[in-house]
Amino acid sequence: MTSRQTADRRPEAGCWQLGSGWALGSGQIDRASYQHTSVDENTEFFHFYPTCLAETIASVSSSFTVVPDMVTEAEEAMLMKEVEPHLKRLKYEFDHWDDAIHGFREVERSRWSQQISCILDRICKTAFPDTCQQLPQTHVLDLAKSGVIKPHVDSVRFCGNTISGLCLLSDAVMRLRHVKLEDQVVDVLVKRRSLYIMRDESRYNFTHEILGEEESFFRGEAVERGRRVSVISRNQPTEESPVDSATQS
Ligand code: OGA
Ligand code: MN
Repeated sequence: MTSRQTADRRPEAGCWQLGSGWALGSGQIDRASYQHTSVDENTEFFHFYPTCLAETIASVSSSFTVVPDMVTEAEEAMLMKEVEPHLKRLKYEFDHWDDAIHGFREVERSRWSQQISCILDRICKTAFPDTCQQLPQTHVLDLAKSGVIKPHVDSVRFCGNTISGLCLLSDAVMRLRHVKLEDQVVDVLVKRRSLYIMRDESRYNFTHEILGEEESFFRGEAVERGRRVSVISRNQPTEESPVDSATQS
């Protein structure tokens, strides 16, 4: 899966070509279903650039959610204990600057201890409250302190309308940029132990990236970046999912 995922992140396999001719998926999020946060609380994690249109502010704030403190410190330690032995077997990859990601190692897991399954269930209920099918594999991405994830849109062939990421070990800044309107930029503070949920418009119409340690600022304040591990869940594409015409066979 590793190579597939890396390739999928590339713009040409993603949705650079999307945006014309397809309607957005299921529409608005039912914010009442998020137990941990309200819309107002959520805005503290967004920095909308002054060039942002009202439409961008509305679409990102309704399709991207940050749930702070999704797990406790003890749960974070438990998660790390379970994934660390698998990650440690791999070397960080720094070689290919062309790829969408630099300074990382990753694994996919579908079998977890009972304790971890409970945590993942909680995430599933928060991020995928409707009938959308979550992919069986959970993706664990370990970004070195000096690692970066460059702007990309996850492949529409392998991933549905929702992506959630549990952020462990380090705060970071995720930048969203509209795929067509380059000045529509939103920085999101994704704090250690928070969960972000990206769906519909922010998932399809914006690239996402994780800024490198030198670039990690949020509202002008430096955000210290260390090694960062994210536990990413995605759902399966459905028949209504947009199709990337450039990669369709
Ligand atoms: C990815 C990705 C973001 C993260 O793996 O496609 O965008 O939070 N990861 O690690
Ligand atoms: Mn991605």
